[in-house]
Amino acid sequence: MQVPESEKLRTSGAEETAPERSANAAQHQSHYDFMVVSNRLPVDRCSTTDDAGNPTEGWRRSPGGLVTALAPMMTKTDGAWVGWHGAPDETVHPFHHERMDLVPVQLSTDDVEHYYEGFSNATLWPLYHDVIAKPEYHRTWWDAYRKVNKKFADAVARHAAQGATVWVQDYQLQLVPRLLRQARPDLRIGFFNHIPFPSPEIFAQLPWRQSILEGLLGADLVGFQRPSDAANFTRSARRFAGATIKQQQIHVKGPDGGVSRVVRAQAFPISIAVDQITKLAKDPAIIERARQIREDLGNPRTILLGVDRLDYTKGIRHRLKAFEELLDEGSLKVEDATLIQVASPSRERVEQYRLLREEVEGTVGHINGTYDTIQNTAIRYLHHSYPIEEMVALYLAADVMLVTALRDGMNLVAKEYVTARTEDTGALVLSEFAGASDQLKQALLVNPHDIDGLKDAIMKAVDISARESRRRMKAMRKQILDHDVDHWSADFLSALAEKVVRDDS
Ligand code: F6P
Repeated sequence: MQVPESEKLRTSGAEETAPERSANAAQHQSHYDFMVVSNRLPVDRCSTTDDAGNPTEGWRRSPGGLVTALAPMMTKTDGAWVGWHGAPDETVHPFHHERMDLVPVQLSTDDVEHYYEGFSNATLWPLYHDVIAKPEYHRTWWDAYRKVNKKFADAVARHAAQGATVWVQDYQLQLVPRLLRQARPDLRIGFFNHIPFPSPEIFAQLPWRQSILEGLLGADLVGFQRPSDAANFTRSARRFAGATIKQQQIHVKGPDGGVSRVVRAQAFPISIAVDQITKLAKDPAIIERARQIREDLGNPRTILLGVDRLDYTKGIRHRLKAFEELLDEGSLKVEDATLIQVASPSRERVEQYRLLREEVEGTVGHINGTYDTIQNTAIRYLHHSYPIEEMVALYLAADVMLVTALRDGMNLVAKEYVTARTEDTGALVLSEFAGASDQLKQALLVNPHDIDGLKDAIMKAVDISARESRRRMKAMRKQILDHDVDHWSADFLSALAEKVVRDDS
């Protein structure tokens, strides 16, 4: 693949001549009508070679639902995406990629350590996932979070056209809506939280709870995955930010004590790119790859599959425990059943993630050491990330999908598995603590803390009849086909565009 001139990586360290710089800048408008803001830009670095065989660094679109959902809209509207480009201490100039304008935000090594690894992933992440791990509260991390949120807000304020729509994504950027409103009251501002929002009783722990709520209340519309998340946020806004609630509208007080603005909080469950997954699932090369995967594992009667970022919220330990007990009591035999566990590397510099990796890998080693034979393996553990083509081949190869999250905003893997099973075969074991369980009601729903209940559900999935499997999968596929990711973004943006009639009754 050759990298087009406009997409080549340009950093302040790279040799860029003055004429090149002005040509590059001229390609980029500074006033956009639609802007998306997220911690990461929707592209990853890639290295390619040009016709003369010289290596060139460029960009390729990142995999993932959000990018798939928003990229087409960015190319149709006069839009730009603001985010971090992934390399600390490096200045990357605005650039163009696949008809999208991208505005990089620079982060220092210190910002990454304190804002991203610290406050975002060791304070907010565990707190918002119901303190499964203990959140750490450090004032230095909070200072960095404020500083970096300001950087993102400044970048948007500089580039947004008069009256533009700005859509801020996720927990790393909760202060951006208010900062933007202060700098640019003309903007229409939406925020979407991809992860759960905790109950006020848990949220109360956060020393900076009021500032976070005020940050979010700078938006016109705050979107969540589940109605319960929206309700938790609304209750916290009342309790800790002095807002009043009328007919599901949040009335925010102005400096004079009167109602200055109305904010709406609502659920918009995210989904997946159904057409893309369906097309891949019907691709003969991918179907052949699925057959190959089964054969490489010795064609066991049942393949069970777990696909997660290696994160303590995903319930990987609970899943392994249930699987081990089923092997131990002989309900499953290593000759008949193999668990493929894909655990993609994540946040590896954060302590809790390092500890989890050690624990999971120790447990997998113990289970395999105990139950493997020369021919058969109990767990095929893969600490890798795979492209979507390989993921779909795994979905096609697996008879049973295990999603046992202890807490999860949505869980798109569950939706991808069901979508890939175009012949309505297979079985999904799904945690009731994943947002996806609101939509995928015909899954075998489990409380992953209840190991006996989890074991029962796994055995039910292993032994499910073709008829029952078809009934459940068909209903779930219909739900997902009717609510794909394009519906999600269209629903959110049309709600954001609505004029709000203030209800003072
Ligand atoms: O689910 C929240 C989220 O931030 C996703 O948007 C992202 O795909 C995932 O967590 C991992 O994020 P990161 O590697 O940027 O911490």
